Amino acid sequence: MYRSRIAGIGANVPENVVTNYDLEKMMDTSNEWIVERTGIRERRWVTQPTGAAELAFPACLEAIGDAGVEKKDIDFIIVATITPEHPMPGTSSFLQTLLELPGVPTLDIRVQCSGFVYGLSIADQYIRTGRYKNILLVGVEVQSVGLNLTTEGRDVAVLFGDGAGAVVVSRSDDSSEILSTHLGGDGRYAKELWCEAPIGYKSPRISKEMIDQGKHYPKMNGRQVFKHAVTIFPKVVYTAMRAQNWTIEDVDLVVPHQANIRIIEALAKKLGVGLDKVYSNIHKYGNTTAASIPLALYDALKEGKIKKGSNVILAAFGSGFTWASAAIRW
Ligand code: COA
Repeated sequence: MYRSRIAGIGANVPENVVTNYDLEKMMDTSNEWIVERTGIRERRWVTQPTGAAELAFPACLEAIGDAGVEKKDIDFIIVATITPEHPMPGTSSFLQTLLELPGVPTLDIRVQCSGFVYGLSIADQYIRTGRYKNILLVGVEVQSVGLNLTTEGRDVAVLFGDGAGAVVVSRSDDSSEILSTHLGGDGRYAKELWCEAPIGYKSPRISKEMIDQGKHYPKMNGRQVFKHAVTIFPKVVYTAMRAQNWTIEDVDLVVPHQANIRIIEALAKKLGVGLDKVYSNIHKYGNTTAASIPLALYDALKEGKIKKGSNVILAAFGSGFTWASAAIRW
């Protein structure tokens, strides 16, 4: 068996900054409400038709360079997104074309906010078995074009942002290692945070009537999602800690999916640590779904909060419900 590690990382967000004050002009909301309930102060939204692959492309090039490999060394492309360009084919096909890597296998995974950690688990398995040496894993979302930007959709619209984070997962030849990954889900809660249309079993899949009813917009039972999130986040962190025989003192940084600062604060409280040990950058990007963990990892690395040898736990929870965690020695 081989061991895997995150060998390189890259990020890309749209230049366009949308503040809470900008949202006040679109819907009945306020900066105070958004900051107090979510911790979000601004997010990045694309300003022109920009597909997920296009947004991810610069992040991929940066990750490949950071890993010290070349494009031609990539032997598998995995993309986690719930906002692909088209229902088919997947974003990974478009990304493979931009990367000029014909022939390399591509895989889209749809596990919402848990997508990046699920992807990391898949990449880890392929490296461990020796099947592949360098896997490009991307979390990317273009959420902004799919939101209801009126007062009716405000509970969801203020939360989500666009962005992309990419890593190269490679065979490890030093102490850095993806030590373990842990996945789970409970589909009984699938409709607590979902987007109903286009509907796969109806003809036509999307109609004017569905659009008039707003079925193409994501809908969320915020309180139910919140309740489960604050229970599941600590559980997945403890699962990763137990697998490594770590206590919280052994953990240098927890990097959770950036859903809501109150959920992150509740996680820190449950773990008995301060926010210095549970990373957050939600104030500047909002919830970027599958991109949120790689974007947070990227910022934590740049800020020096993760160093060579750091013990890091990634923790995710999202629509489905799905959840996942990973224990990593950097
Ligand atoms: N601006 C202003 N008011 C808003 C608003 C907005 N953007 N969105 C909702 N409101 C209003 C509601 O209409 C409601 O008004 P009412 O009391 O007159 O009925 C009031 O604010 C309270 O709404 P409520 O839904 O009870 O607020 P909350 O305290 O539960 O916070 C969330 C809402 C969405 C921030 C919170 O439920 C949450 O964070 N849930 C989890 C979301 C999440 O993490 N999703 C992603 C998971 S991966």
